[in-house]
Amino acid sequence: MSAPLPAPAEAGDPDFAELLAQRPQLSAHALDGLCLEGVPLARLAEAVGTPCWAYSAGTLRRRYGALRAALKGAGLDASIHYAVKANDNLAVLRVLAAEGAGADVVSEGELRAARAAGIPAGRIVFSGVGKTEREIRLVLAEGIFQLNAESVEEIDMISSVAASMGQVAPVSIRVNPDVDARTHAKITTGKAENKFGVAIDDAAALYARMAALPGLRPIGIAVHIGSQITAGLAAYRAAYAKVAELVRALRGRGLPVERVDGGGGLGIPYRDEIAPPPEALAGALAGAFKGLGLPVMVEPGRWIAGPAGVLLARVVLVKRGATRRFVVLDAGMNDLMRPAMYDAWHGILPVSPGALHAPRSPADVVGPVCETGDTFTQGRALPELAPGEVVAVLDAGAYGASMSSTYNARPLAAEVLVEGDRWAVVRDRQPFEDLLARQRIPEWMG
Ligand code: LLP
Repeated sequence: MSAPLPAPAEAGDPDFAELLAQRPQLSAHALDGLCLEGVPLARLAEAVGTPCWAYSAGTLRRRYGALRAALKGAGLDASIHYAVKANDNLAVLRVLAAEGAGADVVSEGELRAARAAGIPAGRIVFSGVGKTEREIRLVLAEGIFQLNAESVEEIDMISSVAASMGQVAPVSIRVNPDVDARTHAKITTGKAENKFGVAIDDAAALYARMAALPGLRPIGIAVHIGSQITAGLAAYRAAYAKVAELVRALRGRGLPVERVDGGGGLGIPYRDEIAPPPEALAGALAGAFKGLGLPVMVEPGRWIAGPAGVLLARVVLVKRGATRRFVVLDAGMNDLMRPAMYDAWHGILPVSPGALHAPRSPADVVGPVCETGDTFTQGRALPELAPGEVVAVLDAGAYGASMSSTYNARPLAAEVLVEGDRWAVVRDRQPFEDLLARQRIPEWMG
């Protein structure tokens, strides 16, 4: 049974009820407290320990399905290649593989994860500015669907590796359209000064050159302008219009173009952002490409996985500082790096029924890592939160565990997949022995 929640928190911050209303995978119950699908998070934290990540399989499926329906609804012949970097847990990948998802990978490790989860190579795109010869050889041997090349240097490298294997690599050129996606500078990728893609003005000549190389077959154009895009669809439309113009120019020169890759980047509301719905992205893709009669690919990561996950952490202690209340968690920036790296805002909810309904006052929520940047939030309206209380950091399903480190010699946290009222540990907490296992002291030191 759901209990009513007290409202409003600090100005600008959504209150608990608003956070829950936007996240159907989460609910607050009078007895069980905060639940992810049918699983009480307090019980999960007790059984698995903290910090720990919990992912909702239903949410992954629901969001993948909504995106697929939006693309279909816009009349597109579209394929979805989930960006593995967002969350590379095998069970998460398996949920999406079972839905028919392809993958966008950027390393040998991601390729191995996608393949191990059952995503066929024929649905995998290999992107990234620094593909090594070894990786190119591997993806070609696997029979990859497409490589997105980001420079003339890389094109030559792919051609010579493929030719040495007696293969012809299917390659799209990733263009840099020089548009501003109006997102955080560290995740803007489509401006001229960014390291990604080739200048769109050089792309036609490069495409023609590719067609003449022995180990290559140019198959299309790819573009990705940034991540966590919430400032409307204008940047997408501008980039897609440039790509469509390029496709027409290539065809005009008699160069075949088989498909376009519209990238990822669709943002989600962490705080109060108005994120465009997938129908809007589908509309932008259809507006630019439907007339060209081309299949369209997308590479979403965050939009699918972000809202599906929470990070569970326990309050170690509450420190009354000179001017502030510090709630110190057992999770830190080594677990969830986003606040430290991008000043990201994440919802934080206590999981116990009592704390969900208690009066609130401002608190800084921090981790145990020895850096001031190890701060999840400042001045957030939160209840008292005694030591031992568990909190859930919301929207941590994308770029959470996948960006974790063992900084401060803190083992990687456990990961759990939730499905209805069932749950399973899908990655064990890293044992301390692991941290030392591959290190050695040189013999000469005795
Ligand atoms: N395709 C390419 C070529 C990409 O570079 C990326 C993300 C994606 C697809 C997926 O983008 P998404 O749909 O997830 O926005 N660590 C940052 C985000 C980095 C995104 C990098 N590239 C964060 O936590 O906000």
